[in-house]
Amino acid sequence: MRYGYFDDVNREYVITQPDTPLPWINYLGMEQYFGLISNTAGGYSFYQDARLRRITRYRYNNVPQDMGGRYIYLRDNSNGVFWSPTWMPTRHAIEDYHCRHGLGYTVIGSTYQGIRGEVRYFVPSGQNLEVWDLTVENTSAKPRELSAFSCVEFCLWDAQDDSTNFQRNLNIGEVEVVDSVIFHKTEYRERRNHFAYFACSEPLAGFETQREAFLGPYRGWENPQSVETDRSSNSLRVGGSPVGVHHLRFSLAPGEKKRVIFLLGYHENPMDAKFSPPGSQTINKDTVTPIITKYLKPEVIDEAFKDLKKAWVDLLKVLQVDSPDEHVNRMVNIWNAYQCMVTFNLSRSASYFESGVGRGMGFRDSNQDLLGFVQMVPDRARQRILDLAATQLENGGAYHQYQPLTKRGNDAVGSSFNDDPTWLVLSVAAYLKETADWEILKEQVPYENKPGTETVLLEHLERCIQYTLNNLGPHGLPLIGRADWNDCLNLNTFSDQPGESFQTTTNQDGKVAESVVIAALFTMAARELAQIMAHLQRVDDYERIKKLADEMAATTLRQGWDGDWFLRAYDHFGSPVGSSSCAEGKIFIEPQGLCPMAGIGVEEGQAKTALAAVEQHLATEHGIRLLEPTYSRYYLNLGEISTYPPGYKENGSVFCHTNPWVMIAEVILGHGDRAMDYYLRINPSKREVISDLHHCEPYVYAQMITSLELCGDHPVDPRYPTGL
Ligand code: BGC
Ligand code: NOJ
Repeated sequence: MRYGYFDDVNREYVITQPDTPLPWINYLGMEQYFGLISNTAGGYSFYQDARLRRITRYRYNNVPQDMGGRYIYLRDNSNGVFWSPTWMPTRHAIEDYHCRHGLGYTVIGSTYQGIRGEVRYFVPSGQNLEVWDLTVENTSAKPRELSAFSCVEFCLWDAQDDSTNFQRNLNIGEVEVVDSVIFHKTEYRERRNHFAYFACSEPLAGFETQREAFLGPYRGWENPQSVETDRSSNSLRVGGSPVGVHHLRFSLAPGEKKRVIFLLGYHENPMDAKFSPPGSQTINKDTVTPIITKYLKPEVIDEAFKDLKKAWVDLLKVLQVDSPDEHVNRMVNIWNAYQCMVTFNLSRSASYFESGVGRGMGFRDSNQDLLGFVQMVPDRARQRILDLAATQLENGGAYHQYQPLTKRGNDAVGSSFNDDPTWLVLSVAAYLKETADWEILKEQVPYENKPGTETVLLEHLERCIQYTLNNLGPHGLPLIGRADWNDCLNLNTFSDQPGESFQTTTNQDGKVAESVVIAALFTMAARELAQIMAHLQRVDDYERIKKLADEMAATTLRQGWDGDWFLRAYDHFGSPVGSSSCAEGKIFIEPQGLCPMAGIGVEEGQAKTALAAVEQHLATEHGIRLLEPTYSRYYLNLGEISTYPPGYKENGSVFCHTNPWVMIAEVILGHGDRAMDYYLRINPSKREVISDLHHCEPYVYAQMITSLELCGDHPVDPRYPTGL
């Protein structure tokens, strides 16, 4: 069953039923201010960093799911009936529900008892604020007396602390209200120089800034007491849980429309000009007031929205295809590019299953993502490369993640994911091919952000390659370290303590376990670096590095070939992983795609054999699985991969990211039809017809697809399909 349809002309996905199998979300913001918004207005906002500068609160794992967000309530004052035009949180039987997720904006609306309400949410380019552009229309034949309430719940900035440190947090909340603007200024009195504001274009009948005053004791967002009674208490208490609620009253003649603009924003003041008058505790509003005044004007909003639309047309027009297949066109021309840009902005730090507190930007992830968006924003790609390279370790290794706010490597996750450095070479090569900006190689970039350690970027790339060469194992293949692309293949972890992190625990010295995946990545990276040297006319370096690539390719064929496919790895005992000799996990997808991509076994024939094995053992109608047979129990020597029940995540789901490697490999071998066939199996638009089974958004590639037939021997009660 479908829950909506693609509007290709407007580049929107239009959801026509609010109770989608999961919240179907969109992202607002492209620069510093970001928001996640679901099809029923759930979600939250943050400035730059989803953990450290969270603007609104969101409860992951809530019941009902996705409760809390950017809500508007409408109330018919003749009978006290109230509802939300976005369906949540009141869940009335609204008519004409529609959610249009577009590029950088979302419009949600519906009609209830003759009142049409629609909200357009977006972040104007260059601004640290989001607009809620509300239109209310009386579609009935009689005059109507109405109230409207807006509502956000503020987060006390550090999202992690906000959800744990209640003894402090319940005592520090502070707000100011001036006319129709609610300012959230918790901790502004001390070390913060930033505050949030929630402004409204209309005069207010009242407001609330205390959650319990708005909701009433023991009530939820679905029936706030203030809305039920049409009374607000103008609460201004210190502490508690700060919210922003505007209360408006107005009447509408038949056919009449009213437009109200709300702005939710973030603002910083200079440290020495925080208060006005100086010496007081009142926010200095000199620099924020002009912004608020400007964006509360409808004509400014309309212009900003037009600019946003145009900015996206410009971004997308860099790469447009016209193929005979609508699913290809739709994904390549619109949604894949959009997903790549969102991924560029946020890496994987905030989504509906990454809570925004758990991780920063991945070194591997951000480099590999660059391959998908470099053509759209070459300048920003350049900056990202330099930021990433500046977190590199002097020995050529990398911190696995960094925090976007500080741009510093994140110690909590550490380093020694031994594939990481290879991705920097690949991203720089992609950047050069797209831009021919050879000057970037001469940029002075530090290591670990330490002043005084700067070398040119080209030297960083050399160190990436050298890092692998300094970390070779007994078969001459690269040592895996904590993990390679597959974060869950933890061959040195040997964890037997509940709760230990697989990503950071190391119980072996790491001198034995090797990765065929890193061998392929190294070969690819070294070939790229050799080409760069050739372009720079450094013939000796070209020869030297090309030889390194050739040697690694030869070693891979010698030590990494299992007979019918490429091996995945050698474990801590020197035993093969991903071999026909293994009881489980006999074949893995990653090396079958990456080795041919690196040119390994293409001439010699192994690539062809390996891809035939993929088709035979791993390909399903829902995509190509990560491994087979799945691990049925926990293996100390394999780590997290074997913690997942069969068919889930890295233990044999269709992990979408790996599928294109096989498609590219097929293309390299001249099997275009097979590549296309594989592509359509995971193409989200093509899968739209099975939305009930697929569960996820039809306009976005999911991290992984899992289904009953992928779950091996796992007992499944057919009454409870788990879907994908
Ligand atoms: C997930 C991986 C992820 C890793 C690091 C694991 O639990 O399965 O997909 O890369 O955590 O966040
Ligand atoms: C998600 C991580 O972000 C990515 O870096 C990793 O390669 C995959 N999981 C596979 O483990």
